[in-house]
Amino acid sequence: MATGLDFSDRVVVVIGGTSGINRGIAREFATRGARVAVASRSQEKVDDTVAELRGNNASEAMGFVCDVRSLEQVAAGLQQVHSAWGDFDVLISGAAGNFPALAEDLSENGFRSVVDIDLRGTFHVMKSAYPLLKKPGASVVNISAPQARLAYEGQIHVCAAKAGVDMITRTLALEWGREGVRVNSVVPGAIDNTEGMRRLAPTPEMEEAVVSEIPLGRLGTAEDVANLCLFLCSGLAGYVSGQVIDVDGALYQRGSGTFSKQLGDSLRAARQR
Ligand code: NAP
Ligand code: COA
Repeated sequence: MATGLDFSDRVVVVIGGTSGINRGIAREFATRGARVAVASRSQEKVDDTVAELRGNNASEAMGFVCDVRSLEQVAAGLQQVHSAWGDFDVLISGAAGNFPALAEDLSENGFRSVVDIDLRGTFHVMKSAYPLLKKPGASVVNISAPQARLAYEGQIHVCAAKAGVDMITRTLALEWGREGVRVNSVVPGAIDNTEGMRRLAPTPEMEEAVVSEIPLGRLGTAEDVANLCLFLCSGLAGYVSGQVIDVDGALYQRGSGTFSKQLGDSLRAARQR
């Protein structure tokens, strides 16, 4: 386990690490000398990320293509990384899908897609990675969302799926703790320049509404989220497990309030057009 924030030669795997927040997390581990592997559905995004990480001080970088909805694909990819580098010190699981839709407009398949990616996908990653984790010493972080604990209009699928992700975290902290593996959830708030924000707050007015509800008065950055992951995966957090931790500028304390209603109203207005 890294005792400071130096991750030289540690094996770090970031599922869904080819864009946005998760790519920012992969970048920060790379900057601190880790061997970093990323995975997502697009070969192009994987290649582009691996190239960036190699230029970013990662002692080594690799990647593989998988859809987290397939246990077989996830297991095969993780096995490749393990064959190359050995047991994993750090596993970040952050693949997710989101789009705003009111429950009455959401098809069965729309609901299933998000649950399949976020919730079943997390299970697939956890189950496939378990035999490959360093025991004792590995640190697992699931990337959750405020929707896990705050209800938002237009987010029934995400709220249900991410609540499940946090319960996966808490259950595995119990089951794997005896082997010295820590499992935590990191809950980003509203993070600037991400696909998640573009989908939920696509107009400047909606972005402003989000910012106005954040006590610290600004959107977060991928680096803010990465910094919490670095801490959780270091020896500094050696006694922290089973926690669901926000990095959100205190957004959670405000609740989903005005923005949730605004999102619902915008979806209802779009339906009437
Ligand atoms: P993003 O850029 O779209 O990142 C999602 C990543 O997951 C991409 O690398 C994507 O790559 C991959 N992915 C999606 N579906 C996949 C699948 N079925 N199988 C494998 N990989 C898949 O989104 P983001 O906004 O940065 O969000 C990243 C994480 O933070 C998510 O877990 C999200 O729930 C959480 N979060 C975001 C915010 C925010 O403000 N953005 C707030 C709270 C929580 P491919 O398309 O190549 O598969
Ligand atoms: N409103 C309502 N339903 C929608 C929708 C929207 N904006 N977008 C997709 N859906 C529905 C589709 O209509 C489909 O249901 P149907 O078969 O009944 O018509 C279902 O969701 C699946 O859509 P599809 O495009 O086939 O799924 P996919 O597996 O190719 O992609 C998504 C999964 C939909 C989650 C896609 O948005 C995605 O890949 N997202 C990843 C990036 C992302 O969301 N980043 C933010 C992370 S927080």
